[in-house]
Amino acid sequence: MSELSALLQEDRRFDPSAEFVKHAHVSDPGVYAAAAADPEGFWANFARELEWMQPWSKVLDWQPPHAQWFVGGKLNVAVNCLDRHVRTWRRNKAAFIWEGEPGDRRTLTYFDLHRQVCQFANVLKGLGVTKGDRVALYLPLIPELAIAMLACARIGAVHSVVFGGFSAESLRDRINDAQARVLVTADGGYRRGSIIPLKQMADEALKETPSIEHVVIVKRGHGDIPVHVTEGRDRWYHRLMDDASADCPPEEMDAEDMLYILYTSGTTGKPKGIVHTTAGYLLGVYATTKWVFDLKDDDVYWCTADIGWVTGHSYVVYGPLANGATVVMYEGAPDWPRKDRFWEIIERYGVTIFYTAPTAIRAFMRWGTDWPAGRNLSSLRLLGSVGEPINPEAWIWYHQHIGHERCPVVDTWWQTETGSILISPLPGVTSTKPGSATQPFPGISVKVLTQRGEDVPVGGGLLALTRPWPSMLRGIYGDPERYVQQYWSRWSNGIYFTGDGAKIDEDGYYWLLGRVDDVLNVAGHRIGTMEVESALVDHPNVAEAAVVGRVHQIKGHALCAFVTVKEGVGHSESLADELKGHVAHKIGAIARPDDIIFAADLPKTRSGKIMRRLLRDIADGKTLGDTTTLADPSVVARLKAQYEDET
Ligand code: WTA
Repeated sequence: MSELSALLQEDRRFDPSAEFVKHAHVSDPGVYAAAAADPEGFWANFARELEWMQPWSKVLDWQPPHAQWFVGGKLNVAVNCLDRHVRTWRRNKAAFIWEGEPGDRRTLTYFDLHRQVCQFANVLKGLGVTKGDRVALYLPLIPELAIAMLACARIGAVHSVVFGGFSAESLRDRINDAQARVLVTADGGYRRGSIIPLKQMADEALKETPSIEHVVIVKRGHGDIPVHVTEGRDRWYHRLMDDASADCPPEEMDAEDMLYILYTSGTTGKPKGIVHTTAGYLLGVYATTKWVFDLKDDDVYWCTADIGWVTGHSYVVYGPLANGATVVMYEGAPDWPRKDRFWEIIERYGVTIFYTAPTAIRAFMRWGTDWPAGRNLSSLRLLGSVGEPINPEAWIWYHQHIGHERCPVVDTWWQTETGSILISPLPGVTSTKPGSATQPFPGISVKVLTQRGEDVPVGGGLLALTRPWPSMLRGIYGDPERYVQQYWSRWSNGIYFTGDGAKIDEDGYYWLLGRVDDVLNVAGHRIGTMEVESALVDHPNVAEAAVVGRVHQIKGHALCAFVTVKEGVGHSESLADELKGHVAHKIGAIARPDDIIFAADLPKTRSGKIMRRLLRDIADGKTLGDTTTLADPSVVARLKAQYEDET
C-alpha cells in the first residue's frame, strides 16, 4: 500500500470561486443525492429538455447487459441540434466558427448549418441512402464532416467516421465491417503545412470495398491537391449540393435506432465498432455538455479534439449543438505555424470554454510560458481535460498559465463506449484536487472493485460501472458475443468493466490510473497492442512481436516493440525504420512504434504467454528519469501485474 499513499499525498484543493458559483447552472451539491435516490427520474427530467416527436412510455428497460432507454420515444437528433434553434433567436447565431490550418476561416450560423445539412441529406437520399444504411466519412476537420454526420442523422442513416490519420487499410477494414454503401471523403487536408491526400488513400482502400456504391469528394484544398475521379462512382460534393433542395423533413427515429458506429481499439487485433443509439446518447452528451462545461448561450466553446474520435463526436458536434452553442473548430496542429496557434485562436474568437488533452498540455509546458503569456486569454472562464490521466504538475500549469488561476479545471473521464463524460467535477459545486477526476456525474454509479469483485471503499482496484446509463454503447457492430464477453463478463452480467485501474481516496474522490488491459494510450489516442503486433508480424522478416507501452513524458505512453526476426535476417537500424514505416502504413502514423528492440527471444511463461510485465519493466528501465512525472506508474504496474496474473 506504500505506493498508494504516495499518490494520495496530493492535498491541494481548489474551490469554485463565489463569482463562478453565483452564475453556474448547478451550484447545489444536493443534485448528487437527488439523482442517486432516483436515477431514472433524474434522466427523465433532463430528457424533457430535448424535443420529442412522440413521448416515451418507459424510461429504462434493463435486461442485463442489454439496456433500452426511453422505450417507445421518437425523435430526431438533427432536429434537436438544428431545427429547434433555427426556430428561435439562435437562427443567426454562429454554430461553427472554423479555422483551417493555412489560415482560411468560415462561420456557419445555425440557419446556414440547417440548410446545408438538409441539402446534403437530400444528396444522400439521391444516392439511394435510406434509413439504417451505413455511410463512411473520411474527412479532415472541416464543417462538412459535421454536416455529413447531421445529414445522416436527419434521414436515419448510420455514420461511421474514420479518423483522417488512419491508413487506407484501416479505412478499408472499417468500411467492410460496417458494409457502408457510400463514402464521403475530401481531396485532402492540411497538417503542419503538409497535405494529407485523403482521396488518394481512399482510392487505395476502395479497391477492396465491394459494398461502396458511391463516393462523394469534398473539395477542401485550394487546387493544390490532385484528385483522381472515377467516372460513375465519384462525385464532387459542391456540384451535388448545387442541385440539392434545402427542404428535407426529418426521419422519425426510435429512441433505440442506431445513430452511429465508431471503431475503437480493444484487446484483440481487430478494432471494435462501438454502436450508439439515438435518445440515450443525445441525452448523455446534452446533459454533460451543459453541466460539466457550465455551457451558456453567450459562451464560445472550443474542444480541440478531432471529430474522428469520440470526443469530437460528443463534444465538438452533438453535445454543444444540442445546447445551441457557438463552437470553434480548428483543422490543424497546435504548433503551426508557431507554438502559440491555440492561444492566438482563443484570443481571436474570445473563447470562453477550452477543452483539450493532457498530452497537449504537457507539450505546451515544454514549449514554455512565453507563448501563452503573449496572447490575451482573459475571455477564458473554464478549462477541461480529457483522454488520459492528467498529472498534477500539468493540471497546476494549466490552471496557472492558461486559466490564470481564475478558471475551474474539469478533468473528465469517459470512453468511446460510455458515449459521454461519466466522472468529472461539476464546476460550480466540486472542490477539485489536481490529478483527480473527482466524482461520478449525477445519476452515474461507479465502484472500484478487486479482481474478484469485492468492493474497495478506499484504495486501488479496477473501475466498474454498476448501473446502466443512457449514453452507454448498445453493442459491438456485428459481434453481439464480444459485447457481452468484453464488458459484462468480468464480474456479474450487470456490471461493466472499463479496462481502467482507479483508486478511491478517503474523500471518495476517484483517481484514474490508466488501462490495465492491452490497450495503450499514446498521446491521447487509444491503440491496441495486438493491432500493432499483427501489423509487425505481417512484415516478411518478423517472426514474433510483443508491444508494450513505456512511460513517456509528453505522450503518456510511447510504443515499444520487442521483435524477433526470422532465420538469417540481421538486426539493423534500417530494418527498424522499415518496421516502423510498415506499421504506420498498415494502421496509421499514430501507431508508429517509438522503439523497435530486436530480441533473440521473447520471455514467456511455461504456458507460452508472453511476459509483458517483464518487457514493460525493461522498456521503462531504459528511461527511468521519465517515470517520476506521471500519476504514479508503480500503482498501474501493480494493478496490471495482478490483472495479468489472474487472467
Ligand atoms: C482514458 C476518450 C484518465 C481511459 C474519451 C479510458 C482517461 C480511455 C480520461 C478511453 C481521464 C479518458 N483520466 N484516463 N480524464 N479520459 N481516459 O475511448 O484509459 O478514446 O479507458 O475515449 O482513455 O479512450 P477513448
